[in-house]
Amino acid sequence: MPADGTARIEWAERRMPVLRSIRERVAAEQPLGGVRVGACLHVTAETGALVRTLRAGGAEVALCAANPLSTQDDVARSLRAEGIEVLAERGQDVAAYRRGIQTVAASGVNVLVDDGADLIAIAHDADGVIGGLEETTTGLLHLRRMQLGCPILAVNDAQTERAFNDRHGTGQSALDGILRATNLLLAGQTLVVLGFGWTGKGIADRARGAGAAVVVCEVDPMRALEARMEGFEVMTALEAAARGDVFVTVTGAPGVLRREHFERMKDGAVLANAGHFDVEIDLEALRGVADAPPRDVLPLVEEYDLGGRRLNLIARGRVVNLAAAEGHPAAVMDVSFALQALCVEELVRSGAALGPGVHPVPVAIDNEVARLKLAALGVEIDTLTDEQVTYRRAFA
Ligand code: ADE
Repeated sequence: MPADGTARIEWAERRMPVLRSIRERVAAEQPLGGVRVGACLHVTAETGALVRTLRAGGAEVALCAANPLSTQDDVARSLRAEGIEVLAERGQDVAAYRRGIQTVAASGVNVLVDDGADLIAIAHDADGVIGGLEETTTGLLHLRRMQLGCPILAVNDAQTERAFNDRHGTGQSALDGILRATNLLLAGQTLVVLGFGWTGKGIADRARGAGAAVVVCEVDPMRALEARMEGFEVMTALEAAARGDVFVTVTGAPGVLRREHFERMKDGAVLANAGHFDVEIDLEALRGVADAPPRDVLPLVEEYDLGGRRLNLIARGRVVNLAAAEGHPAAVMDVSFALQALCVEELVRSGAALGPGVHPVPVAIDNEVARLKLAALGVEIDTLTDEQVTYRRAFA
């Protein structure tokens, strides 16, 4: 029997103690009264927990999808039943998905909460917009090149976000998506990670822990050196193409795996993308080198036949942790969405003073989230003694 969306949201909420503590406080203080939040997020149970928190603080929320394949329909239905506008459906076509974003953008929103910057890109200069948040590297790259009409807090760059979301969240859930889609045994396989940012590191560590031989491809010399020093094999993508059994792109750049790589890959190789957009595996080139249109071999796997060598693409190259699994676990989104809830409050309180452009998340908010998470985990930490504070100051 399909799970009911409300039960699924509650399951997530039980694993989101930091967000729960924020909800209790904002329910009492009502800092978001009269504020309309437009959110373009993956419509998951964890997002449901965020939306409920913003509402508890007094906000009205309109939600659209950050990806046509990531919506959990039962969650969307339950949120609608609670009176929240949700313009998302799993598998919706690109036109409907874009319409959802446009509808939210044009609905008189004051604060924009985004995952990929599609909403901010069209609503940043709309009347009444106080500011926004962006939680992806790719989205921020795009926004930093724009002449923005409002302040944007770069939640993606916050320390708590990087450590939790990218390393632990995508690190685990990208592998989860690959395993759910293929039921592969990682032990004994050669897994190639293309990109050694926080997410790439998370994937590489976990794949190694599961018994895979891990190869890293990275264009940044410092990161490549770091990968080598951590004991991974480092090589060019062209060299890795002939070696890998499983390939995961996570760079934020387009065309990371392309014709010259497909031509060298082994029969049976599995290709997945864990970057935000479906541009990292060049699908046009893949179709171009294949003898025929792809064949569905499993619900989320398409097989491309290259003269008897079969390449298996997961979820059409869309972000694998959401398209083939359930995204980051709730314990990870607890940190991410706690940060975002506090940032929405910050924009409402002092967005006007920030001015248009991309701004870092205030360190105090980052630290507050870490402090709350430690408290929720029952972990106590030391504080500096007076003597240590004086000593540090002398060298500051
Ligand atoms: N991004 C990655 N995982 C997610 C999740 N579980 N919910 C919302 N957004 C996400």
